[in-house]
Amino acid sequence: MEQTFIMIKPDGVQRGLVGEIISRFEKKGFTLKGLKLITVDQPFAEKHYADLSAKPFFRGLVEYIVSGPVCAMVWEGKNVVTTGRKIIGATNPAESAPGTIRGDFAIDIGRNVIHGSDAVESARKEIALWFPEGIAEWQSSLHSWIY
Ligand code: TYD
Repeated sequence: MEQTFIMIKPDGVQRGLVGEIISRFEKKGFTLKGLKLITVDQPFAEKHYADLSAKPFFRGLVEYIVSGPVCAMVWEGKNVVTTGRKIIGATNPAESAPGTIRGDFAIDIGRNVIHGSDAVESARKEIALWFPEGIAEWQSSLHSWIY
């Protein structure tokens, strides 16, 4: 079953949006497979966003991610990478549709509350980076009701 890496950024944690965001993924029917509150350092944040290192916003982005604890999660389910990105909404909250997390809770692209992997391959890499200890194997007993 497909997995994705979802991270509630420091603004989302400090604004008390963790429960709301988890609830949206749970209600959709996805399964929470990994969860931790963690403060990362600069080298770690730079590694997570390595693909964006040439962008003009890179420094500010790294500073933002290290500014406080983030809620790192692994979610599982059919098409969870693509559907998770739909639940999150467009990168710039000015363009995120109402009903999406960024559309409902953010204004500024530099404080857009949440990250979600953009492809199955990047999800695999990000889960390995953020959860080097691994993810416990189990299957929800509701699985057969959802699929
Ligand atoms: P990106 O990977 O393009 O977007 P997404 O998070 O939707 O996959 O960019 C990573 C983060 O960088 C994005 O969530 C917010 C920040 N960012 C800026 O601060 N300014 C920008 O112009 C862009 C494109 C992104």
